[in-house]
Amino acid sequence: MSFIVPLLAAEPELQPAAAKLAERFELPQEHCGEDFVLELTRDGLQLRWLDRPDMQPLVLDYTRGRQAWRQQLGGGRQEAVVRALGVAHGMRPRVLDATAGLGRDGLMLAHAGCEVYFLERHPAIHALLDQAVLHFQQYQSDDHWSRQRLHMLPSGSLLEHDVMPSFIQELKPDAVYLDPMFPERDKSAAVKKDMQILQQLVGPDFDADGLLPLALELATYRVVVKRPNKAPFLAGQQPQSQVASKKHRFDIYLKQAYPKIR
Ligand SMILES: C[S@@+](CC[C@H](N)C(=O)[O-])C[C@H]1O[C@@H](n2cnc3c(N)ncnc32)[C@H](O)[C@@H]1O
Repeated sequence: MSFIVPLLAAEPELQPAAAKLAERFELPQEHCGEDFVLELTRDGLQLRWLDRPDMQPLVLDYTRGRQAWRQQLGGGRQEAVVRALGVAHGMRPRVLDATAGLGRDGLMLAHAGCEVYFLERHPAIHALLDQAVLHFQQYQSDDHWSRQRLHMLPSGSLLEHDVMPSFIQELKPDAVYLDPMFPERDKSAAVKKDMQILQQLVGPDFDADGLLPLALELATYRVVVKRPNKAPFLAGQQPQSQVASKKHRFDIYLKQAYPKIR
């Protein structure tokens, strides 16, 4: 995993703003041979993979492209992740997305009615996601669902502390969602470019098994784990139920049933 990613200005005029952001996210302000850099452009942050100039930088913008298109279709309730979290049963769970990544699944859940709390440990991915969420919320009207339902937690991990930080304990999430990076994730050309960059930057999450007991401790009702179809269960623990999608399955660990909503 390349943990050190400097944050630089793409143009000299953006230098003061870049320095402010770097300070806020505790990222270096100078490039010292790292493979990746975060660049502040006039359109926001982008993640550039310096060894692969053939690859477009990763830009996270929920107001444009595929993600916006999916939402406009209103297909949220049919998404496997939404069904796995139990939204179809009339419940709108408060979800801790404890491996937030690029926030795509979390955004689906929020669009479907869940309140979502993003937790991400990689400092550069955290910064990218934080700014994408902020930009999306500012782009929308004051009463837009994103303003009420998307929450960014400080950069960190459930695994980081002997005692869970109080801001996580106090959340008392109905459900915890886990999608750690799987070691043998598909390397084929079919993998989307942004996922390839994420895989290269973050690498496999070899400590992922440790997340399951902590998530089960935290969640009031259920934990949902996204896995590639052929992957073994997280921590070798058999789920009570599953939702399948084309390439993934969502393993559902039930603590108790959601309350009946009339
Ligand atoms: C496969 S990606 C998640 C993709 C995400 N579900 C989405 O829709 O964009 C996995 C992410 O989880 C993060 N991660 C892995 N283990 C973590 C942990 N213990 N705590 C916080 N973040 C973690 C990684 O840094 C990576 O960004």
